[in-house]
Amino acid sequence: MDRGETMQFSTRAIHTGGANESAAGDVVPPIHLTTIYSYAEPGVTQAGYEYIRYGNPTRCALEECIASLENAPAACPSLCFSSGQAAVDCALRILRPGDALLVSEDIYGGTVRLIEEIIRPMGVEVVFASTLDMESFLTHLTSKTRLIWVETPSNPLLRVTDVPTLCQRAHQNGTLVAVDSTFGTPYFQTPLDWGADIVMHSMTKYMGGHSDLLGGVLTVRDPALRAQLFEVQKVSGAVASPFDSWLTLRGLRTLAVRMRTHAHNAQKVAEYLEQHPKVSRVYYPGLPSHPQHELAKQLMTGFGGMVGFEIKGNVNEARAVLQNTKLFLLAASLGGVESIISYPVLMSHAAMTREERYARGIQDNFLRLSVGLEESEDLIADLENALATL
Ligand SMILES: Cc1ncc(COP(=O)(O)O)c(C=O)c1O
Repeated sequence: MDRGETMQFSTRAIHTGGANESAAGDVVPPIHLTTIYSYAEPGVTQAGYEYIRYGNPTRCALEECIASLENAPAACPSLCFSSGQAAVDCALRILRPGDALLVSEDIYGGTVRLIEEIIRPMGVEVVFASTLDMESFLTHLTSKTRLIWVETPSNPLLRVTDVPTLCQRAHQNGTLVAVDSTFGTPYFQTPLDWGADIVMHSMTKYMGGHSDLLGGVLTVRDPALRAQLFEVQKVSGAVASPFDSWLTLRGLRTLAVRMRTHAHNAQKVAEYLEQHPKVSRVYYPGLPSHPQHELAKQLMTGFGGMVGFEIKGNVNEARAVLQNTKLFLLAASLGGVESIISYPVLMSHAAMTREERYARGIQDNFLRLSVGLEESEDLIADLENALATL
């Protein structure tokens, strides 16, 4: 399938993985609801499809579209899963007992749990370390390190990792690098171009974009690695459903315009919070005060829609803010059109002890915003009202 490599992002998002297979000329790709496909003759498929878990035209359309947006080679369509976690799980299954996994310490709490509850007990040696000082992170690289897992910008502290340097050094060691790029989205960053071997997204977030689906995706640039991951996906079975694939494909059509507004609003909100007397610290890669702002400018074409901030106070003050926003909905996820406020302490990182959280830099006064597509003036007024209760 032509992925329109020479075309710009939005054009590819709208025209790749389209309706071109439809005899009826559908402008919108159809949802293929069929479990099985009839064979042309025994052992010979009509169009490459046999059984829904192995492949489905709606899912394949999505996989072509995402691969195009991630600048993956033609031989490597993406692999779409039933959740972000299923995608992470599939990628981590390339590890074998005795291998080592090096992980950046600021990552989604669910990934930490997957690693601690499933991967470490499998006999994989796991090391968590901060990527803020790359040289010190790299001291953990050993001859056993098969995979490095990083998230950039990270959840929830919006740390930016120097993935190009990391990849250079990892590859000299024969180590693969996987990047959870959920916060950045392929609109603002394409980690394969930095040298990453695996790019992962929770499609539940910005790719779907409307808080109405669950999905995940892996994209790679080595066909052999893709074949290995596809085999795991096929036999373990956590594939994206046709309907979620269709919804995600629809979301991708507007990813560029949504991300531009998310980033515009997030910048305004971050700048507002930074000058607020009751806010002690703001985390947003688009702020000059962000410790990796220069790196973010080199790696990203925009800084995304996620903002973190610390208020002057502790759990009680955090609760007061959470309970007094009206537009910012108190909810767990991110990346939808509506703005969301969340509290990692009691939500995404609730499984960690206070000591573990503090060691990772997540304090009791830390709040996370997914800045939506409402008007920034209204969002700022909403935060102003909530902060006035402190
Ligand atoms: C950065 C990041 N990665 C992975 C996931 C897991 O994705 P899902 O909830 O789609 O399984 C999340 C979910 O919040 C996330 O924020």
